[in-house]
Amino acid sequence: MNEKLLSLKDEIVSKLDQTNDLIDLDKIRVAYLGKKGSITALLKGMKDLSNEERKNFGAEVNQLKAQAAQLIEEKLADLKQKEIQREISSMPQFDITSPANLERGSYHPITLVQRECENIFRTMGFSIEDYPEIVTDYECFEALNIPKHHPARDMQDTYYLDNGQLLKSHTSAAQNAILKKYSKNLIENDTPIKAIFPGRCFRNEATDACHENTFFQMEGVMVDKDISISNLIYFMKTMLSEVFKKDIKVRLRPGFFPFVEPGFELDISCLICGGEGCPSCKHSGWLELCPCGMIHPNVLREGGIDPEKYTGFAFGLGLTRLAMMKYGIKDIRDLNSGSLKALSQFTDDE
Ligand code: DAH
Repeated sequence: MNEKLLSLKDEIVSKLDQTNDLIDLDKIRVAYLGKKGSITALLKGMKDLSNEERKNFGAEVNQLKAQAAQLIEEKLADLKQKEIQREISSMPQFDITSPANLERGSYHPITLVQRECENIFRTMGFSIEDYPEIVTDYECFEALNIPKHHPARDMQDTYYLDNGQLLKSHTSAAQNAILKKYSKNLIENDTPIKAIFPGRCFRNEATDACHENTFFQMEGVMVDKDISISNLIYFMKTMLSEVFKKDIKVRLRPGFFPFVEPGFELDISCLICGGEGCPSCKHSGWLELCPCGMIHPNVLREGGIDPEKYTGFAFGLGLTRLAMMKYGIKDIRDLNSGSLKALSQFTDDE
């Protein structure tokens, strides 16, 4: 290879050696292989050479181009691998076999995550509501635009009690009461409704590592004039970035729930691979976290709020899933096991 090309190659190698992040790496790629890059310029300049010179030089420049592309590719793989290692090592590890600290009590991981979310929402002006575990059919379904015999009821295999009441199958069951509780203040004093309500939910699920008949959700609603999907995205992104202590990317996909229109599934960039794709995110780079949407006019109306004047968003965050992701808990059944040995792993400064 001619001198000039060799020194260009050395230059690329030494620049790559000094690079430790993906942004700089891309700058190097553009500087050499981009449209105005120096290797591209060499190829363009060949038109001034004689036929013979062009043949030899062309082959050499192409060789250099292929080598540079490969070196950059290898460096890219290397940096991504390091990034993944960093992510993994920064995640708390849950080790059920490590010795239990039974000297003092500990908070349940769900309590820890719930309190953390509550604190974050409190600083954003949300009130925290409590709600019973036994509710009526009206609260759980009818008020949420799910009339009797609606097929959406099949999605939740509900436990009914002999007296016709039921164990709440989702925290959305509290929406109607919350809207009614605050609608007067909204209408008379222009005070937006901003509330979250965490709670235990029940469904007749066959249990396995990912399914339990008893789990926790945290519902949230915000209603005011001119509330839009942007408000929803903002609050979710802020909350999740706080929970995971890093900037979380979110995306919305369409999803159907009778009580919101439009309805979405909110995904976050995978915490393990940072969005590159790995077994934890089924190689998609995204994790499904939270269904949400704009509150359906029928639900607002049922809560005493005029949907022509007010709009709002709602979300149903899976607290159990969030706790599992945050603490790296692989089997949901550990959470309800009542095993002090498992749960005391979380004894910390709280
Ligand atoms: N309640 C739904 C469930 O458990 C989840 C949900 C979906 C809640 C959309 C919402 C929402 O607030 O907007 O399946």
